[in-house]
Amino acid sequence: MNGELVVVDDVPGEFAERVIESFHGRPEEGFSIALSGGGTARRCYERLAVDGAQQLDWWLVDVYWGDERCVPPDSPDSNERLGREALLERVGAANAVYPMRCDEGADAYQLRVSEVGRFDVVHLGLGADGHTASLFPGSDGLDADPGRLVVLNVDPSGANPHDRMTLTFSGISRARLVVFTVMGSDKQEAMQRVADGEDVPAARVRADRVVWLVDGEAAPR
Ligand code: 6PG
Repeated sequence: MNGELVVVDDVPGEFAERVIESFHGRPEEGFSIALSGGGTARRCYERLAVDGAQQLDWWLVDVYWGDERCVPPDSPDSNERLGREALLERVGAANAVYPMRCDEGADAYQLRVSEVGRFDVVHLGLGADGHTASLFPGSDGLDADPGRLVVLNVDPSGANPHDRMTLTFSGISRARLVVFTVMGSDKQEAMQRVADGEDVPAARVRADRVVWLVDGEAAPR
């Protein structure tokens, strides 16, 4: 399995703790985090906004996204909107915020990611089909050139709507720490496939350190 499996009851609380710990252990003055989308991410950010309100100096934090749907930023499907509502508007500060903009194309965000060098944290979720970020089974983004850090991508099955922009595995691998958060029985099969070493997209993620925060319902057996 790619990374350390940590089975916890309180995934959002553990997520917040890991981000705070990473912030206090950061090797540079600044701190960079790439946010995810999805319902689990929303719960994690709402908790981080509370637990991290005093424990992080948000004026030192640069915020990126690991993936985005190609929708207006005020769309209910926008990951940018999710990150702003669940986290940024609640902590009230950040040094810089870099949303993905599909209309600018992948090269603009590729340049942004190449400039940041390393991410301190990349937060990822797990789809029931084994996807992570917007790297879907059978999608072109899985086989991007190693030099590509960001691509436009789409779910060929149609199960996950919208054209997407996403970090590639190369882009994700720039993380000092990848934190996966997985909750609920509907993710147990996908989590089991990861634990069994099956070639699902999430199993391909590599970084300096990969930690899986999984609740009891989603935990592999
Ligand atoms: C997205 C997310 C996606 C998400 C998983 C899990 O843009 O949809 O980045 O990768 O993390 O689908 O989502 P849930 O937590 O809602 O199950």
